[in-house]
Amino acid sequence: MDLREQAVEFAHENKGRFLSELVDFVRMPSVSTNPENAADIQKTAEWLVAELKKRGCTRVEVFPTPKHPVVYGEWLGAGADKPTVLVYGHYDVQPVDPIDLWDTPPFTPTVKGDYMFARGVSDMKGQIQAALKAVESIQAVGPFPVNVKYIFEGEEEIGSPNLEPFMREHTDLLKCDFALNPDSGMIAAGVPTIVYALRGLAYFEIRLYGQDHDLHSGLYGGVVQNPANVLCELIAGMKDADHRVTLPGFYDKVRPLSDEERAELARLPLTEEYYLSGTGARKLVGEKGYTWVERAGARPTLDVNGLYSGFIGDGSKTVLPYYAMAKISTRLVPDQDPVEIRQSLEKYLDAHIPDTMRYEIIEHAGSKASITDIHTPYVKALEKAMETVWNKRPLYKREGGSIPVVGHMQEILGIESVLTGFGLPDDNVHAPNERLLLPNWYQGIDALIHFFYNL
Ligand code: BES
Ligand code: MN
Repeated sequence: MDLREQAVEFAHENKGRFLSELVDFVRMPSVSTNPENAADIQKTAEWLVAELKKRGCTRVEVFPTPKHPVVYGEWLGAGADKPTVLVYGHYDVQPVDPIDLWDTPPFTPTVKGDYMFARGVSDMKGQIQAALKAVESIQAVGPFPVNVKYIFEGEEEIGSPNLEPFMREHTDLLKCDFALNPDSGMIAAGVPTIVYALRGLAYFEIRLYGQDHDLHSGLYGGVVQNPANVLCELIAGMKDADHRVTLPGFYDKVRPLSDEERAELARLPLTEEYYLSGTGARKLVGEKGYTWVERAGARPTLDVNGLYSGFIGDGSKTVLPYYAMAKISTRLVPDQDPVEIRQSLEKYLDAHIPDTMRYEIIEHAGSKASITDIHTPYVKALEKAMETVWNKRPLYKREGGSIPVVGHMQEILGIESVLTGFGLPDDNVHAPNERLLLPNWYQGIDALIHFFYNL
């Protein structure tokens, strides 16, 4: 038996322990957006430090940032003639609300059938564990074939605000040949997938103020304009009947899709039926002139992510609210720039807002889209590894989600990322009852073992 077969066998023999170590990781409520979870974030970072030490790292460090720490580790024992891979992960997770809709508590990982249920188990603690367990399996049977660095951040789910400055400050520390980023997923179970493009994100909170306090809606309704009504009109005008965004200049920088790429995308099994069954939607909608797969990954969008105004408690209260708020995100494609998107939003608001109102924009996460070079030996190494495990060639997909670090790594470190992951579209990421399909996860560990040897 050669080393790689022995390593795969080790992984298979240790499935039970790998699973219980996934539970340890996932039970820590590392919600990056909640200030009250700051101590849990810290604990999770320390847990990773201990893991990296077990993985033989000769240097492990926690770098504080203005918000959540970056965990760094390195093992460079393969020698200068071997490539260095930078393994990326985010150990933070999304909030759990609406908590009432969870069948089991989000931070009490629960196995039911082939799934484990818990917040973050798919996005992306399970993916980090898959990488660490692949490394462990290889180390258990022999020397690790390449040099490896690790960077784990605690702020991806809030847009990685402090990772970019960290990377600019530590370009030498992070020097490597490429990154392995397992924060994307698969098209379906048993369908290995390599992602080659991610959308960017520009996220805004719009606050619309009318008068300076709430009013009785009977005494003043009819003479004082209602910011909730106005905000709804403004939002309604942000898209037209063809589902195109109307913010002035929104599409100016969009790089058109080539005919070749459109033909490639058309071959993916991402049909209307696929999106219908994965979502439970009654019917799909989308931008005129584009296919489903293009709309979901290769075209920009605008969506309301949250709305608030007036009285939202049980029962009723007659009130004319003094302000209204919407959280609105736009998903961007190359070469749109989040800064220019903010300007087009401002232009739109300035042109349409009535003089009874004043607005304020609070900017949240922002990042550019990225496209990855898939003709690198590193991507080939993963392609071959996936073929070995699943007996089929992986599909190349443009992903509609965002991972800000991918663009930053290209820009700051000059490196490409190999983007993969073993979560599925129906894992309920960012939603109640997030889950991970365990048989697929075990195969993912096998695939990464082959990947590291293939390098
Ligand atoms: N892992 C996701 C992105 C993703 C999901 C890629 C599914 C491929 C398949 C990532 O953690 C994520 O959710 N990113 C946020 C980024 C944002 C908060 C800046 C997103 O896309 O909303
Ligand atoms: Mn996420």
